[in-house]
Amino acid sequence: MKNKFTRNICCIGAGYVGGPTMSVIASNCPEIRVDVVDINEERIKAWNSDELSKLPVFEPGLESLVEKCRGKNLFFSNKVEETISKADIIFISVNTPTKTKGLGAGLASDLKWIESSARQIAKFARSHTVVVEKSTLPVKTAETIKAILNSSEQNDHISNSGMKKTFSIVSNPEFLAEGTAIDDLQNPDRVLIGGEDIDSINLISDIYKSWVDQDKIITTNLWSSELSKLVANAFLAQRISSINSISALCETTGANINEVAEAIGTDKRIGRRFLNSGPGFGGSCFKKDILNLVYLCRYYGLDEVADYWEQVVKVNLWQQERISRIIIKNLFGTLSEKRIAILGFSFKSNTNDTRQSPAINISKYLFQEGAKLAFYDPKVSEIQITSSFGEFKNEETFEICESAIQACEGADAVIVLTEWQEFKYLDWISIYKSMRKPAWVFDTRILLEKDKLKEIGFEVWTLGTPF
Ligand code: NAD
Ligand code: UGA
Repeated sequence: MKNKFTRNICCIGAGYVGGPTMSVIASNCPEIRVDVVDINEERIKAWNSDELSKLPVFEPGLESLVEKCRGKNLFFSNKVEETISKADIIFISVNTPTKTKGLGAGLASDLKWIESSARQIAKFARSHTVVVEKSTLPVKTAETIKAILNSSEQNDHISNSGMKKTFSIVSNPEFLAEGTAIDDLQNPDRVLIGGEDIDSINLISDIYKSWVDQDKIITTNLWSSELSKLVANAFLAQRISSINSISALCETTGANINEVAEAIGTDKRIGRRFLNSGPGFGGSCFKKDILNLVYLCRYYGLDEVADYWEQVVKVNLWQQERISRIIIKNLFGTLSEKRIAILGFSFKSNTNDTRQSPAINISKYLFQEGAKLAFYDPKVSEIQITSSFGEFKNEETFEICESAIQACEGADAVIVLTEWQEFKYLDWISIYKSMRKPAWVFDTRILLEKDKLKEIGFEVWTLGTPF
């Protein structure tokens, strides 16, 4: 049967980036066939689930896109090799976590999944293929990918189909944030495309032009594009560490962090966004991308630059330690035999992702002090919470609850760690009645109405405000 599609896109990696990004491309470009492939069978099964609520990624707006396109021009499968062989454009959207061992452990990105993707492309691609770096990568990674692909061009330059096998590499980093992924993809501030070959840059631009204004499409050389992604995340994270460092000063001086954020954010040069103080940034990327930047700077002998950016990560960890110390101090210096309700476990609201969530570190500090923790999160599954703790997990100190009310029952303290809006509207009077006194609320997201809680009888600590 003749292929009715004008292009075949293959996306390697059906994760938080691959799934939503390809759904948006498929929705805006019905003439393109989009295949998302992954080695993880469970994940693909979930993407193909009849029940859309079971998709592996929770993102507002995602279900309707998948419903609209799946089976028409959007397909999810484990057929990595076959799909590569049919594609003319391949997006690599695989994970690039921090290395845990070997050279650069704890700082550099682990590129083993990138390398294995490149090797698979080298082996199974036919004719000319544009390979797009969608994953976040250290600057100069395209050189590695090129080396792998070029060696296959030389060894095997006439593919089985009898056509000449050639490759072109484009960097097209993704700037979506979880929880707003579909809106970010549909209405991006910019699309960044870096490359060396104008035809490939135009090919990728043309896909985005189906729904993004041309003036929002920025084209650069490969290295600027790779580096800009790391720098964008470093700048965003730096704002959070900056405002968090000031939250501590507010608590001791009587200033209020939200008032300070408003006062400085109205200066257009500073801007209002990303000035919400909280328990520190989480998520799979900020920490890993800054550490990767730190590693690159050290590699190139720029120690002062490395030290500067490393401080952003140090302040982030310090904020979590600081909050944990405040909780312990206010609960009379010991958490032994105390039940503490942890409200929220995802790293931010509107996502089920818990990677690097501040809730993990803060809970670990509290476990170390002997606390019994009762967790509730509206979107995070039990297994995700339990798998975040190894040695700390034992039945006596660990409980996963069906509701916030259940978690708070009999607790000495409630800690709000994710800004889920539903926490604002809980029946705080009933919660107060069900708790042991003095009943504490620690609001690390500045979400709840402090005065109302105090009126009910709670002792309340709110981040960045005078006690
Ligand atoms: P993820 O872990 O959710 O998904 C990656 C997927 O790739 C996994 O399902 C894994 O099984 C699959 N995979 C790995 N190697 C494979 C291979 N050889 N063949 C087929 N499948 C393979 O990761 P993610 O959150 O989607 O992030 C992907 C990349 O995008 C990372 O580099 C990340 O830094 C970057 N990024 C992430 C976000 C975000 O919000 N999560 C935003 C922008 C950029
Ligand atoms: C972030 C960036 O915002 C995206 O542009 C980028 O594409 C992505 O990382 C990535 O490369 O992975 P994400 O981590 O999904 O997106 O979410 P953010 O909204 O940036 O929040 C990150 C963390 O910072 C969360 O823990 C959040 O609660 C915290 N945060 C954010 C604050 O504490 N204060 C703020 O003002 C904003």
